[in-house]
Amino acid sequence: MGEYLDVAVEVSLKAGRLVKDMSKEILSVTLKGEVDLVTEVDVISETLIVDGLKARFPNHGFLAEERGGIQVESDYTWIIDPIDGTTNYAHSFPVYAVSVGLEYKGEVIVGVIYDPNLDELFTAEKGRGAFLNNEPIRVSSVSELDRSLLATGFPYYFRKDPERILRYFTDFSLKAQGIRRAGAATIDLTALACGRFDGYWELGLKPWDMAAGTLIASEAGARITKLDGSKLDIRVPEILATNDLIHDQMLEIIGESLGR
Ligand code: IPD
Ligand code: CA
Ligand code: CA
Repeated sequence: MGEYLDVAVEVSLKAGRLVKDMSKEILSVTLKGEVDLVTEVDVISETLIVDGLKARFPNHGFLAEERGGIQVESDYTWIIDPIDGTTNYAHSFPVYAVSVGLEYKGEVIVGVIYDPNLDELFTAEKGRGAFLNNEPIRVSSVSELDRSLLATGFPYYFRKDPERILRYFTDFSLKAQGIRRAGAATIDLTALACGRFDGYWELGLKPWDMAAGTLIASEAGARITKLDGSKLDIRVPEILATNDLIHDQMLEIIGESLGR
């Protein structure tokens, strides 16, 4: 597996550094939906990552945000978010990352997330722990929700269905020590993995938002499920990820919110 991780790190560092360098230039920004945007740098970063991986693993499949899936007969699929946090990026808010995950027979086995602004490289291989700049990381040991710092995000369809999302937000705001909404799912998941956040929930995520980050967080000791407590599926757009200790408390609040 080492080779997969090495190549994923290589392309993630390269893409992340390029994305940061290009942030100083004037970007052309296109809208994909009402509020969902894409910059020319998303496409450049994705091309760099996909081409770099393809050159080494020509028989693997790819699922990348801007170009979608490249179907081939392979047990391996690379899942790529070339800039997670594009809205932040387009507004020069330096909270974004590059994310590369490798799935084998439907299970993520390698995850790399690189935050070029903090120069933080998060890596994980299935069963081998999670690392920040090569140092092992662990989720926090906070066990009470009212001492917890939580993270969430709002999906791009937010304007069409704000009620459920705002209900969770209100309910957790009243129970947690604080909530952050940073605008990059990968940053939320890696912050959970290294103990900065204690819990994270979100609706409307895509596989490329979750692939690498969920492996890194779970290898760091996180418990990750859907919002009803059932097994996570990165192709189903919902996630509850915690340090394990506050998971049941968060599930209870989600249950109460929905029950109303
Ligand atoms: C988005 C970010 C954001 C989350 C959105 C994602 P993008 O990814 O992760 O935090 O709330 O649902 O789509 O579009 O910046 O790659
Ligand atoms: Ca994303
Ligand atoms: Ca993206």
